[in-house]
Parts: sequence; structure tokens; C-alpha cells
Amino acid sequence: MPKVHLLDYVAGNIRSLVNAIEKCGYEVEWIKSPEDVKTADKIILPGVGHFGHCLKSLSDAGYLPAIHDHISAGKPFFGICVGLQALFSGSEEAPSVPGLDLISTSLRRFSPSNADGSRKSVPCIGWNDASTLHHESSSAKDEGGLGKSFYGLNPSSKYYYVHSYFAPYAPGHLESQGWTVATARYGDERYVGAIGRENIFATQFHPEKSGAAGLRVIKAFLDGGMWSDALLTSLPGTNLPPSFVANGASSSGGSMNGLTRRIIACLDVRTNDAGDLVVTKGDQYDVREKSEGGNVRNLGKPVDMARKYYTQGADEVTFLNITSFRDCPITDLPMLEILRRTSETVFVPLTIGGGIRDMVDPATGKEVSALDVAKLYFASGADKVSIGSDAVLAAEEYWANGGRGNGKSGIETISAAYGAQAVVVSVDPKRVYVSDPSELEGKKKHRVIKTGDKDEQGREYVWFACTIKGGREVRDLDVVQLVTACEAMGAGEILLNAIDRDGSNRGYDLELIALVKSVVNIPVIASSGAGRPAHFDEVFRQTDVDAALGAGMFHRGEYTVAQVKEHLGQAGLLVRPFEEFEP
Ligand SMILES: *[C@@H]1O[C@H](CO)[C@@H](O)[C@H](O)[C@H]1NC(C)=O
Repeated sequence: MPKVHLLDYVAGNIRSLVNAIEKCGYEVEWIKSPEDVKTADKIILPGVGHFGHCLKSLSDAGYLPAIHDHISAGKPFFGICVGLQALFSGSEEAPSVPGLDLISTSLRRFSPSNADGSRKSVPCIGWNDASTLHHESSSAKDEGGLGKSFYGLNPSSKYYYVHSYFAPYAPGHLESQGWTVATARYGDERYVGAIGRENIFATQFHPEKSGAAGLRVIKAFLDGGMWSDALLTSLPGTNLPPSFVANGASSSGGSMNGLTRRIIACLDVRTNDAGDLVVTKGDQYDVREKSEGGNVRNLGKPVDMARKYYTQGADEVTFLNITSFRDCPITDLPMLEILRRTSETVFVPLTIGGGIRDMVDPATGKEVSALDVAKLYFASGADKVSIGSDAVLAAEEYWANGGRGNGKSGIETISAAYGAQAVVVSVDPKRVYVSDPSELEGKKKHRVIKTGDKDEQGREYVWFACTIKGGREVRDLDVVQLVTACEAMGAGEILLNAIDRDGSNRGYDLELIALVKSVVNIPVIASSGAGRPAHFDEVFRQTDVDAALGAGMFHRGEYTVAQVKEHLGQAGLLVRPFEEFEP
């Protein structure tokens, strides 16, 4: 098998990248010291988290001169995410830390507001373009790339991005230095999505998380295929923006600041009486199935279902462990195996929730931090971890402490190590009705709204109380207090459930979603209540929510993810087109 060298300088979540490379028919060799760089032919530099942290680690370990030498020797180099950012001169994220400076532009942070006053979430999480512009000044002309695909990129494909900092794009500027650039637009900011020149290639998006479209890019790099005849036509269900060829501007029709409407499939996983792991909501519980040889738990179902939703076009898959405590050594948690197996075939982001907290390992009696637990999940293929009850407790402490975190919560420690985008806070609010907002005076101030969904007693004011332990315990903390504290402590996304809607198939709680969206800048995922494709349309039109999650309606086979996306597409909302690619 041909080889590619991976430079993994932070104990990172690169399992999916390794899986994607292997799927493309290549073997991964690890670079363990700057000396190893000399022996490498092709190098991939993945990066997650903080620009300053990544560049400083590389520099302290002596890698920067080795990378420079590799590049100037004309050997292939591929930087991903912060690996792209490393090519630039520096970043607003860490002004005192220099980059490799192969491109003399500095990275900026996305602004949460556009010039016209509309808003956008930061971090930017979701599926966007990487459209190549063939400028007169671009090297594409000399290299015969006009009308060809650059590293397998397709203007009607979508790619998965997750970042707060970006390389601003000014037409012609980078091209005049010989770079070929593919761009994306987020709100009113256009930025570099992919860039290449001679032996250098880099993407801001994660190709290993971008489904078939991303695998095609990885394969093109590994095979040395800078220019190809790969499809430059519209994919089924998409239209190439008419202006694409002329100026590269992407159509904004039905998009969210340029992003597609993200659809997430969620799998609640638990152990059944036979000891098999099953997905619970719906009728997937099938006790008649025999486990393999009876000695290991049957992991087939969660993994198979994740794979099914991936092939239906789910933009993300979330696993929630809803089993209560059992004596299981932490390193043997069945969810780790589920993630390892899922990440072999599912090339979109994976989130895992349940049990990410400080605990005592039953196997050793030793204390294990939430960060250590999260590390195990990341190493097994998770991209994000979701924190529930612990977030409520951390937020209570944050407010008791005068609006300050103590630095020790899982949110804070995981966010510091892996970046905000890796930390999802899962919120389970419950409606508390009052007839008059003044009823709450004198007590803790909770954010009350007037609701169109009165209770049986006709009360029309409501506040949203946070709960823990799967909704069984209600706390004196409201949803606004919770999400604002979590955002301040470093959470990168809110997974917003609604106990009153869960399993109801009545549609999402639009009032709750609008309230939460109005108080945070981080992306919000709508959850609970989806029973029909029209509910997705409704939540995207009536709120500016960033993503929507479905569970029961998919598990019961009532609708497929593809049907939801088709519905949204027909209603004029931008969704990621379905693609197939077998390397
Ligand atoms: C879920 O978490 C519990 C501990 O909280 C653990 O005992 C159980 O094995 C976990 N389940 C999976 C599928 O990992």
C-alpha cells in the first residue's frame, strides 16, 4: 500500500482522517519527530483547536523548519483546518504567535453581525462551498486547469467547516501570487475554503468529515491529482449558481449565511435485558436477534443505523448514552467501540453525549476527569462531546460565583484543550406556567415570555426551567441563565431539547428556540418534537436556528432523512446534495 505521513502533534481526534485515508487505499505512517519529516514523501498536517496552541506546539517541538524544508523540496503537503491556517502569517486568535508565513495574510475572527444588521453564529459550523475561481492571474491558466476540477473540488458540492477564524479573500490578490483559491461565504465575509500552489494544498474544511465530496478531495491529493476532469456539473437536486462561472458568487437562496440547513440524526443508545446495545426510541428494539457467539455485546444496531442515516444524507450523527450507571471500566465503555466502528464508514461529524463528567473508574478506583473521558471519545472518532446535567451544575456555580467559571468544569477544560467547537451543551428545559409575570418577583429573576401555547388553566406566561438526570429533577435555573453561562465558559454549540415536546410529534418548541437564539451567538440545534418533514421547514423558517435534529420519526421508519431534505429543497431551502463516491 502506498504511504502518507501524518503529523499528529496534539493528541487529537484524527481517527476519522486515518479511516478516510485508508479508505482511499493508503497507509498512514506517523511522524514522531522532526527527523521523520525528512523521510516522508507526502505529509498531511491536520489541526484542531487553537491557532496559537497548535503553532507553538509545532514550533517548540522543532517541526517548523522541517516543514519549511519539506515544502521547499517540492514534496506534497496537505494542511487541514488549523493546518491551512498554519500557512498564513498569523491569526487574531494568537497575535504574538507567527505562522509559517507562506501566505502573507493574517486570519480574522468572524463577526457575529453582518453589515446589514443580520446575525450569524460563531463558531461557524456547517456545510458550505469550496468554489474555485479561475482568475486571469491564477496559475490555473498555466497549469491547464481551466475548466477542470482543483483537487476534486466541485462547485455544487458542500463541505463541512467548523471554525471561528478565517483567511479573508480579496479577489485576485492571492491568485497574483500563483495560488489557486476556492472560497466560501459566511454572511458578508468571503474567505479561503481551500488553497493550493505547486506542491502545497490546504483546506479550511474537514475533508474527512465531508462525506463523499471530502473523500474525493483526499483521494485527489493522495493520487497527486491537482487537476482533473472530475464532475464540474450540477449534482442532482442542486443548481449551479448561474453566476458561478462568471464571478464565483454563490447563490444565497434559502441558505443560512451561506450554510446549508443541517439535519442531524440522533440515536439514544442503551443496553437491553440480553446485554445488547440497542437504539431505543421507536421499534428498533429487537430481542430475537442473536448476539455473535453470545460472548460480546451486539453492537450491530447503533452502528448500522448510523451508517443508514449517513447514506440517507444525514449531515451529522449524534449518539446519546442513556444507560444509567453500571460497573464498566472506562476504557471498555461500549460507546467507544460504537464510535470506532461508526467512524470507519460514516464520514460526517459524530457527537457523543452521556457520562462525560468527573468520575471514578470502577476498574482502578482512580478519579478520572471529564477531560480524560472526553479524550477517550475523541480518540475513538468523536468530533464533539455533549454535556447535559453537568452543564446545569456548572452554570449554577457560575452564577453563584458572580458570573465566573471556576476553570474546572468539563465545559471549560474540554473547550480549552480541544476548542469550543468540540463542546456541545445539551439542555433539557421544561415549561413552568404562571398567570402573571409578577408572580416571580422577589424570587430569582427568570426570563418570562408570553406564550401562544397556553396551559389547560389558560395561563399565558411561561419560563423554561432547566432539569437534570434525564428531566427527573427540576432546578431553579432558567434556560437563558444556563445557555449564557455555558457560552461564557466555552461551549461551542447548544443542543436544545424540550421536555414538553419530546416524543409528541407536534413539532419543535419555536418559542423556546427563538428565546435561546436571541441570547447566544453560538449555534443552536433544535431538538424534540419533530414528527414530519414539515416540522423541519417550520423551524428553519420561523426561527434562525442553525440545525435541526430528528430521532423517533427516522427510527420508526416513518420518514427518511432524504425525504426531509427533499422536502426542504422543494420548499426553497438550501440542503447538502447527496453524493456517492467510492475511492
Ligand atoms: C453509558 O454510561 C454508563 C455509565 O454512566 C456505562 O456504565 C455504560 O456502559 C455506558 N454505555 C455505553 C453504551 O457506553
